[in-house]
Amino acid sequence: MAKLIVTNRDGETSTIEADTGISLMENLRDNDFELAAICGGMCSCATCHVFIDEDWMAKVGPRSEDENDLLGELDSFNDASSRLSCQIEVTKELDGLMVTIAPDE
Ligand code: FES
Repeated sequence: MAKLIVTNRDGETSTIEADTGISLMENLRDNDFELAAICGGMCSCATCHVFIDEDWMAKVGPRSEDENDLLGELDSFNDASSRLSCQIEVTKELDGLMVTIAPDE
């Protein structure tokens, strides 16, 4: 388990107990956050876009080239904090991660 601090699209922040070994996207969906995640985690839809707190960006690792290409097409893309939540595996090291659900596009 890892605690995640999540801000939804209404700006409300809550803490969830996330399962390790599965993606951030799956954890957000399991906890009823609005996230279309249409492609189911195949890195091809960008509807699982989140903003990672900038202090945590190094810990979650770099974006892949495919992820960068997809995110770069979004109006809300922020180079300093945007990630596809399906491309981040939740690990114990991410305990305390702060994440914000990006606007729907
Ligand atoms: S769920 Fe489609 S890119 Fe993440």
